[in-house]
Amino acid sequence: MSQIRFELHANDGAARTGVLKTPRGDIRTPAFMPVGTAATVKALYPEQVRSAGADIILGNTYHLMLRPGADRIHRLGGLHEFMRWDGPILTDSGGFQVWSLAGLRKLTEEGVDFQSHIDGSKYHLSPERAIEIQADLLGADISMQLDECTNFPCTEEDARSSMELSLRWGARCKAAFGARETQALFGIVQGSVFDDLRKESAARTIETGFDGYAIGGLAVGEGLETMCHVLDITVPALPANKPHYLMGVGKPIDLVEAVSRGIDMFDCVMPTRSGRHGQAWSDYGPVNLKRAEFAEDNSPLDPDIDCPASRDYSKAYLHHLVRAGEYLAAMLLSWHNVAYYEHLMARMRAAIREGRFDAFASEFRARWAQGMS
Ligand code: GUN
Repeated sequence: MSQIRFELHANDGAARTGVLKTPRGDIRTPAFMPVGTAATVKALYPEQVRSAGADIILGNTYHLMLRPGADRIHRLGGLHEFMRWDGPILTDSGGFQVWSLAGLRKLTEEGVDFQSHIDGSKYHLSPERAIEIQADLLGADISMQLDECTNFPCTEEDARSSMELSLRWGARCKAAFGARETQALFGIVQGSVFDDLRKESAARTIETGFDGYAIGGLAVGEGLETMCHVLDITVPALPANKPHYLMGVGKPIDLVEAVSRGIDMFDCVMPTRSGRHGQAWSDYGPVNLKRAEFAEDNSPLDPDIDCPASRDYSKAYLHHLVRAGEYLAAMLLSWHNVAYYEHLMARMRAAIREGRFDAFASEFRARWAQGMS
């Protein structure tokens, strides 16, 4: 019997809140997973990630198999021990990163051969190897099936053949994964922006049968309105009693719109990447601390967030650190941004529990629009 169980506690419209229970700890949903690509959530200690409110982080098969190598991490005790994060870890399967980062690559039915973006050395990834790396060598609590992230834009014909390949790879991942007590495997729905393909991909991914269902191939340039449409079509086609994970999304407004459509899990580099570029996230959008208006602004980024980076340092100080190119600028802004994202998830969970998610979302949209004006 699997020890990974999803409990739903409240629904409010299509939005839901609950807990994904794992032997390494509870994941409160809707959940945001900070990205720890290279066995580190960049510029943050594991303790800071945890205290910022994260229950789970994401790791990447692609980066870790290249450097330091999945077998090496296994010999060193697995990914949790290696990076000193004892909470749950979800790993992405590598497909998406091969598409976005690798050098020369060759795709066949069997899998994908590619060259490292670091030194050009050659690698092979197949559905079976993706499972071996994630579940056996890294020791991920949640592994993702290997998929092909469909190009955007693309023809319906190309979207179909890519979707069919992901479906076949999903079934091979399921067979390689087998039945496990303490680890879960999620499938990935593809189909680009084509309603019929999304519905078919959802139905056939469910037929294979996974512990959770991800929606891939979004946040690739289609825009918020199109993404919301794909969610409107796809989420109702997924089992209500399994977690729904929207991959690689997104800005705070994207998270609010997706939660309102029934998404339970997210990951994105946005908070940590923009933290390294002098930006702080808020309900009004990104704030560029480099701007002269902050030179003597003694207020903190957000006194309501229980994180030192949000509460105890002035914008004037952060402005100075960014201008001076200090490491601490990236550290404090990454910390604030992860805490802001996690605080936003906590606010959404509370709003759903208390049956006021619609009002929360409307107020959030208004603040976001005000910031954009
Ligand atoms: N991250 C963002 N989008 C995707 C996707 O479509 N597939 C995978 N595997 N990872 C992603």
